Amino acid sequence: MSTVAPVIKRPAKRSQGRPAPELIFGDLWQFDPAPETADPKLKARYELFINGKFVAPSSGKYFDSINPANEQKLTEIAHGNAADVDAAYAAAKKAFDHTWGKLPGKERAKYLYRIARLLQDRAREFAVAETLDGGKPIKESRDFDVPMAAAHFFYHAGWADKLDYVAPGRKVAPLGVVGQVIPWNFPLLMLAWKLAPALAMGNTVVIKPAETTSVTALKLAEIFQDAGLPPGVVNIVTGFGDTGAAIMGHATAAKVAFTGSTEVGKIIMRSLAGTDKKMTMELGGKAANIVFDDAPIDQAVEGIVNGIFFNQGHVCCAGSRLLVQETVADEVLAKLKNRIRTLRVGDPIDKNTDIGAINSKEQLHTIEKLVAAGVKEGATMYQPPCKLPTKGFYFRPTLFSDVSMSSRVAREEIFGPVLSILTFRTLDEAIEKANNTAYGLSAGVWTDKGSRILKMSTELKAGVVWANTYNKFDPTSPFGGYKESGFGREGGRQGLLDYCKLV
Ligand code: NAI
Ligand code: MG
Repeated sequence: MSTVAPVIKRPAKRSQGRPAPELIFGDLWQFDPAPETADPKLKARYELFINGKFVAPSSGKYFDSINPANEQKLTEIAHGNAADVDAAYAAAKKAFDHTWGKLPGKERAKYLYRIARLLQDRAREFAVAETLDGGKPIKESRDFDVPMAAAHFFYHAGWADKLDYVAPGRKVAPLGVVGQVIPWNFPLLMLAWKLAPALAMGNTVVIKPAETTSVTALKLAEIFQDAGLPPGVVNIVTGFGDTGAAIMGHATAAKVAFTGSTEVGKIIMRSLAGTDKKMTMELGGKAANIVFDDAPIDQAVEGIVNGIFFNQGHVCCAGSRLLVQETVADEVLAKLKNRIRTLRVGDPIDKNTDIGAINSKEQLHTIEKLVAAGVKEGATMYQPPCKLPTKGFYFRPTLFSDVSMSSRVAREEIFGPVLSILTFRTLDEAIEKANNTAYGLSAGVWTDKGSRILKMSTELKAGVVWANTYNKFDPTSPFGGYKESGFGREGGRQGLLDYCKLV
């Protein structure tokens, strides 16, 4: 195996007070464009999916879904209103009472297996559609989102005929009709996280994808038709916050499940207080990735980069705060700077792209605003000198060092490729700083010592603690938060328990 020595690119006229030479991979090794070419098979317009059929919205209104990589219109999405939500709930109730709710688990399993296999068959097409609609790099939608979505259907298909083992010693029963609203960061995967356990348990669903990323949900509806899923088992009502509120507040919903911002989560919780609806909430995060001085530093740097720059930082469990032990802080920062200079930011459909497009103009503005606040509050910012496309929504990978605990970039969810770096001296100080946040979704620990990992995972108030790795997911592993990151679990046996009642 040959290794390529890094080459230092020197600016043309260094004598003119130019900065020190930097390693600029983008300029050194210009790759030819390598776009993924599979046909995403998009329709010019997508209707609502109610009672097994694509139907026009009762308002007759549609809105554009654009490709955030180039701001071009991709397709049109129906704007569902309260009347459409009513129709969706009526179809879901009928399916629960007469077909799906009556089927034995082993029959439901067959449908879930079929959905998983059909999704695998069309994996390339779905990956391209997901990338065009949402802006994430094709290598992520191809290697992570779509295979994981299929894995969730496979996993829950496996449970559907074994539900007597979900709560040993107790029998379980479905809840009825479930209302679900999901965000734009993992459009297809969040859909699978929400649908698969609900359906395996025997519930029926009314669900709304996010307004900027509805396409793969509606493509999955085509798969439901191909799989012969009985009408009304899954109903997809697209639209904005008003549509979401109608789904969450509907009288027929026995349970609602929401993933999105803490702000909207709180609105929903307030509006449902006093009702007997079951609820699960998966909200924001501000995870600490904690690096001790005995950690394998190069591996940790890879993990940190994956933790925050994966999917442009549009990840609720992103490792957006780095807590690094003081003795290795300089080394880690130098290595991080070097590493992010090699990240390729650009067209998400290109197979070489590491950081794709920010999902929307609004989200780009949110990131820009918080980054400006970080600079104003005195943190030291570093951004690599990469070229950004002129059209579309892009943001450079950004590091903030010398960050104080009270700084906005250390406290607020940025939901972009921005890492805030803080230091600590002792284990107790690391725990104190990591837990000093309103959130508690995830954390990472990097150390050579198993006992320290156990101690940290006990003390950290976070639903998931990764040790010497980051952003690893599996359908068997429950995921969910502490504190303002929400409640309830998704995945594993625990996730199923949130979609049933014990009888
Ligand atoms: P959002 O919470 O407004 O959107 C999430 C979903 O909720 C979308 O489908 C939206 O249409 C729906 N929604 C909006 N208002 C609603 C309401 N009143 N009732 C029911 N559903 C409603 O999130 P947004 O504005 O897209 O992003 C804002 C911030 O939220 C981001 O900057 C990020 O910090 C955070 N966020 C966190 C996510 C997570 O996975 N925890 C996902 C998306 C955003
Ligand atoms: Mg879009």
